[in-house]
Amino acid sequence: MSNSFVLKGCIAFSDSSKSIVTFNKGYVVSVDGVCQGAFPDLPERYNNLPLVDYGNKLIIPGMTDLHVHAPQYTFRGIGMDKELLDWLNIYTFPEEAKYSDMDYATKAYTYFSEDLRRCFTTRAVVFATIHNDATIELMNQLEKTGVITYVGKVNMDRNGGKNLEEENAQTSLQATIQWLDEIEGKYKNTKPIITPRFIPSCSDELMKGLGALSKERGLRIQSHLSENKSEIAWVQELVPQSSCYANAYEMFDAMGSKEYPTIMAHCVYSDRLEMQILKKHGVFIAHCADSNMNLTSGIAPVRRFLDLGINVGLGTDVSAGSSLNMVKTMLITLQASKMYYRLVDTDVKPLTFEEVFYLATEGGGKYFGKVGSFKAGYDFDAVVIDDSKMFSMRDMSVRERIERMCYNDADAIIKDKYVQGNRIFTKIE
Ligand code: GUN
Ligand code: FE
Repeated sequence: MSNSFVLKGCIAFSDSSKSIVTFNKGYVVSVDGVCQGAFPDLPERYNNLPLVDYGNKLIIPGMTDLHVHAPQYTFRGIGMDKELLDWLNIYTFPEEAKYSDMDYATKAYTYFSEDLRRCFTTRAVVFATIHNDATIELMNQLEKTGVITYVGKVNMDRNGGKNLEEENAQTSLQATIQWLDEIEGKYKNTKPIITPRFIPSCSDELMKGLGALSKERGLRIQSHLSENKSEIAWVQELVPQSSCYANAYEMFDAMGSKEYPTIMAHCVYSDRLEMQILKKHGVFIAHCADSNMNLTSGIAPVRRFLDLGINVGLGTDVSAGSSLNMVKTMLITLQASKMYYRLVDTDVKPLTFEEVFYLATEGGGKYFGKVGSFKAGYDFDAVVIDDSKMFSMRDMSVRERIERMCYNDADAIIKDKYVQGNRIFTKIE
């Protein structure tokens, strides 16, 4: 099938963070992989395009996972009894150290890539490990899935233990340049991103070098920010001249710009000052509610980020988050925000379903450009969902059905998935 076609079905997409547009048995049109809009009746000018009738199935925009660690996928769901710093040292760093072995990396990344292809995610921003060869293997595999990604070879020149540490700032920078040179021009769907793990993993010299490299090559940066109180206190000791954790990244020129936005995962404890810094640079916050629950980190004040006009999307943060399922991530985001309102601050109203649907689709999609909606001009990324296993005693509206899918994700079966008008997954019956 070419990437010019019409899909017919039960359509839902965000037209803003506050509202979802739905069409029961409506039409959504792709021309050369670009969405022409969604319609209750098919405009005549599209009559000659091939049409796929999905009947009563749901058709929604693809979702963006703004923060996920590929090498942690195969140990998801175990080792959930520790908080961040112990979790990293005891479980995560020893696991990531295994990616120096290419047999191990190839096998594990095959599982990750295949499952990413099958889930609700059409775009993802991914951490690999410090190892160049394994990172390139991951990029090769992701390229084949058709999912559009940014992938980062991780930088760490301190506090990783003896098996997950680069020798010094210079060797880490050289390895990064070598990695970038090796993959230059190799992929269509897979882009590199500079990835200092977080301040405790990177010396001042390395951070400065990575900030400069990103500017020099016009590359984006991803990292972690203000996830856990012990982590934040440690950063203050490591960079005592900084006024806050975000300012430490700012000092090293790692906060990016509106043109090349940085992604910061978590921001659970970001205060007003830190939020102002994030806004000033156009940073995207990857909100990772599942991870923040599992590692007993806390709950990020997402409503405050939105009120300030800061860019926000959702991240699974596998494997601190236990699943690649973005619909499950939406549910945990909703539940976390309800508890933040109830237990932490009654001035911060819970996120609405509309807002969380927006965050999972267009909120994170914006990082990739015009992505995450069926408005005209957006990339045609779509997921077709069969929810017929969820019996109801009455007719449900499309809006009710997508809310029900979120609260009951196990019975939402992905039928087809499209990225830029290419069908990259279809469920064999
Ligand atoms: N901070 C630094 N590294 C990590 C990681 O791998 N996962 C999470 N959740 N936080 C981090
Ligand atoms: Fe993370």
